[in-house]
Amino acid sequence: MNRQAPRSQVTLADWGDGVGTLAPASVDLFYADPPFNTGVRQSTPAGAVRAGRDIATSYADAWPSMAHYVAWLRECLARTLPVLKPCANVLLHVDQRTCHHARLMLDDLLGEAGFVNHIIWSYGLGGSSSRRFARKHDDILWYTLDPAGYFFAPPRVEATSRRMRGQTKKATDVLDIPSLNNMASERTGYPTQKPLELLTLLLRACAPPGATVLDPCCGSGTTLVAAQSLGMHSIGFDTNPAAVDLARARLAAGQQS
Ligand SMILES: C[S@@+](CC[C@H](N)C(=O)[O-])C[C@H]1O[C@@H](n2cnc3c(N)ncnc32)[C@H](O)[C@@H]1O
Repeated sequence: MNRQAPRSQVTLADWGDGVGTLAPASVDLFYADPPFNTGVRQSTPAGAVRAGRDIATSYADAWPSMAHYVAWLRECLARTLPVLKPCANVLLHVDQRTCHHARLMLDDLLGEAGFVNHIIWSYGLGGSSSRRFARKHDDILWYTLDPAGYFFAPPRVEATSRRMRGQTKKATDVLDIPSLNNMASERTGYPTQKPLELLTLLLRACAPPGATVLDPCCGSGTTLVAAQSLGMHSIGFDTNPAAVDLARARLAAGQQS
């Protein structure tokens, strides 16, 4: 098969406005890692900028109430639906504050039959407290628009048991992937940057070869870089100019390597 070279498009735009510029029924996989409504501005951690390599920036992450936040998510998703293919997969990355609200909203918007998995990204670092169990995971809600015909290529991960040492096993809905530490070579300084390993696994599993992937809150461009490395087309939006510059630079660097 003659597959086209992957195209990546990153635009400074609001999610809801950006999707209005896309062709109807053109996206195979939608992945969004929106702000989590933490109530604080997300900034590059102090001291985390390494000698001219990392950027320092921030983005707003506060809504007047949870109801306002969920209404915003719902409105943006509703505006996105026309650009998704009828068999598209939808991955929404949230956390323990918002997951239960998002799940009910998605059941209502996309239909309970479209629910496929509640994926746990177990990341190891941070989240400790002496007053509760350490919070060490995010939640990725996977829905499909076509319960009978959606794409899935079961990923394999390294087996951990002694019996299966050196072999692989089918991944479960708990993905053990470390978050980026200060020394990680892919770290850019962008606040809440996700690891390429996570996005590569999700895209490989949930998007067909040559797919078009949409990330409407692309931040440092991790989803787009993962798509490029897999030969997939990608579209990203972000309202933060620093994010758009960074995502474009990462994509350009990937094309050269
Ligand atoms: C959690 S971060 C995404 C991080 C990204 N996954 C990465 O690996 O770098 C959320 C992003 O949403 C962006 N954002 C916030 N409101 C937005 C909106 N209305 N439309 C598009 N992007 C928005 C922020 O600027 C921020 O870059």
